[in-house]
Amino acid sequence: MLKHVAVIGATGAVGRELLRLIHDRKLPIGKLSALASNRSVGTVLRVGDRDIPVQRATREILQDVSLTLFSAGASVSRELAGAVVDGGGVVVDNSSAFRMDPNVPLVIPEINADDLKRHNGIIANPNCSTIIMLMAIGPIHAVFPIRRIVVSTYQSASGAGQSAMNELREQTRNALDDRPIHPVAFKHPIAFNLFSHDSDVGDDGYNGEEQKMIDETRKILHTPDLPISATCVRVPVLRAHSESINLEFVEPTSAASVREVLSGAPGVRVVDDRAANHFPMPVDATKVNDVLVGRIRQDISVPDDRGVELFVCGDQLLKGAALNAIQIAEHLEGG
Ligand SMILES: NC(=O)c1ccc[n+]([C@@H]2O[C@H](COP(=O)([O-])OP(=O)(O)OC[C@H]3O[C@@H](n4cnc5c(N)ncnc54)[C@H](OP(=O)(O)O)[C@@H]3O)[C@@H](O)[C@H]2O)c1
Repeated sequence: MLKHVAVIGATGAVGRELLRLIHDRKLPIGKLSALASNRSVGTVLRVGDRDIPVQRATREILQDVSLTLFSAGASVSRELAGAVVDGGGVVVDNSSAFRMDPNVPLVIPEINADDLKRHNGIIANPNCSTIIMLMAIGPIHAVFPIRRIVVSTYQSASGAGQSAMNELREQTRNALDDRPIHPVAFKHPIAFNLFSHDSDVGDDGYNGEEQKMIDETRKILHTPDLPISATCVRVPVLRAHSESINLEFVEPTSAASVREVLSGAPGVRVVDDRAANHFPMPVDATKVNDVLVGRIRQDISVPDDRGVELFVCGDQLLKGAALNAIQIAEHLEGG
């Protein structure tokens, strides 16, 4: 039983899913606190049949908390996580603040739950695109070692939060009515457009999201030198990220054997109907816990059957964020 659970960023896109999942999955808790910034004080959130008033996140509240789910950006996590740990509580953090800290486990329970054993009060939830990719390739790599990954993403607006979802809706209406579009949440128009991911671009040409996918994948799979390249793109989809993944294996590996592994993988659903041309789509992945995997085929450009192509879709507000965090909490509780 968790005496007191707090969600920081409770009014945001991920925070609202966290509160819903705490209720729906019957996380064994006593008190529940919904925390956000000053802007949200006065807001009341409905969780099951309870109305929970939003409070400002402060160090004082956090000192009495057994588990805090952080979902308010890296600066808030850096500022307040220490207060939870000092008070004897555990942090599960959705931001990038601690992901690459060698003392902080970065965990997808289906892939590396064992890493939870060595936490020191803080556990990091991986980046959403990383989780969705690894749900598919983690179980494959456990059976057929991978020697190179090339991934291209098609990331939805909701990956950038509630304001970006609102912006996609509003810009789409404006574009259809021939009204001017004024991007705010993104630098570029998102309606009827797509653009390279909105994170900063490094000297090597890779943007922040691409670098996260590379670094976090290596940490989670415990393969510090695995060659990985990523191209991350934002698309005008409301919810659920898609990814085209090219895998190169150490040994010859058939697409059929990869499909078989994926068919038994927890949290994965194979959607691969060639006759009906039905493969993973964001509309089918939206509000669904499983990551959908399809287009499973031999890469004909790689000799000796050492290459396989996949296409995946996952709801990044769920498995890419809130659901993964709740599953971590369930593991800590022995669930
Ligand atoms: N969206 C995704 O798919 C996704 C996936 C994985 C990880 N994440 C991570 O999850 C976090 C939240 O993302 P989101 O998409 O939910 O963003 P969002 O919809 O913009 O929500 C942000 C939340 O943070 C709160 N907040 C902002 N500044 C705060 C402060 N100084 N103190 C306390 N609370 C503050 C906001 O409260 P107010 O309403 O009061 O402003 C709001 O509740 C980010 O770290 C993000 O990187 C997001």
